[in-house]
Amino acid sequence: MNWKVPFFDLVLGDEEKQAVLSVMESNWMTSGPMIADFESAFSTATGADVQSVAVSSATAALHLSLLALGIGSDDEVIVPSLTFVACANVIRYVGATPVFADVTSELDWNISPTDVAAKITSRTRAIMVVHYAGYPCNMDKLLTISQKYGLALIEDCSHAPLGTWKGQPLGTFGDTGCFSFFSNKNMTTGEGGMIISRNQQLIERFRILRTHGITTSTYQRFKGHAYGYDVAELGYNYRLDEMRAAIGIVQLRKLLFFNAQRKERVERYRCLIAERLPQVSVPFAKYHTDSSYHIFPVLLPGDQDVRDNAIRDMADRGVQCSIHYRPIHMFSAYQGVIATVPVTDRIAGSILTLPLFPSLTDAQMDMVVDVLGGCL
Ligand SMILES: Cc1ncc(COP(=O)(O)O)c(C=O)c1O
Repeated sequence: MNWKVPFFDLVLGDEEKQAVLSVMESNWMTSGPMIADFESAFSTATGADVQSVAVSSATAALHLSLLALGIGSDDEVIVPSLTFVACANVIRYVGATPVFADVTSELDWNISPTDVAAKITSRTRAIMVVHYAGYPCNMDKLLTISQKYGLALIEDCSHAPLGTWKGQPLGTFGDTGCFSFFSNKNMTTGEGGMIISRNQQLIERFRILRTHGITTSTYQRFKGHAYGYDVAELGYNYRLDEMRAAIGIVQLRKLLFFNAQRKERVERYRCLIAERLPQVSVPFAKYHTDSSYHIFPVLLPGDQDVRDNAIRDMADRGVQCSIHYRPIHMFSAYQGVIATVPVTDRIAGSILTLPLFPSLTDAQMDMVVDVLGGCL
């Protein structure tokens, strides 16, 4: 399909290409100096006293967070249903049960702290929050709840790299912060992820668990810094490679600029929609904090047919849209899971995500809004 306005578009330059070439010329492709440099650059960019561990995806980061925090069978983890399915899948990977919490309101699609508190049982061990679309969750309330009940707190920052809540970097409130560098994210390495934490013991576990439970790396052995290894526990192959790390270092340098470009586009979309499509509501429009502006979801008037027809008609006219998200409890794989999430249920059929990326032009945005208007 030749989109006039794709849902997202990559912004990759010569620096990324050169970075990959330099790794190829170095003849060392995995777990080497680029990973160490990427991790250290990520910690520095976060601007807090954290350490970072590069992994193959945010899914791996979330999975390792649960494992290292000791969450397993018989445990419950509270998680939003209005998020990417990986958030609940990883809870199942460790044998625990996802308990779905509602969004805060029709205009604030972050997890509701009130509903989180209401869903705590004697089996609850952790809360997983997602800074939806880059807008920070209310970390004051969530931290208070997690501390009051002695629960682990995992922040999924896949939408919110370099975001903050009241000046504190996202990912540093909880036990761990997990980031995605999948293709459509604010910064990308194609596939990739990062875990950050202030807890040195967790960081050490992540380094071992991401590489089969092995206590030394191939690179340490190549360099003569280690001559053997032990397998300390059951681990995984969740490593990132050197090429991706090299791309990540370059993308990270551009991230604040990308985020600012996204912000300009979101502000323009909001004005266009207020002027031309007042029947469309825009979540987070009156949000009191800044965002990383990862995606631009709106709520259409009417039922699910209106939304589904709009996606199809917009595609016919060259505009690619998406849905963030179909709530997890509505997927076949989650049938039978009880989810009392009335606000999520109410908005689910009306969510539409419009194209957003740093190089989106004014003309493309005008077209998106006009084409959408023609579908309502
Ligand atoms: C909120 C959220 N969590 C987790 C993930 C999983 O990320 P990855 O593809 O890097 O595993 C995504 C990816 O889309 C996401 O949006």
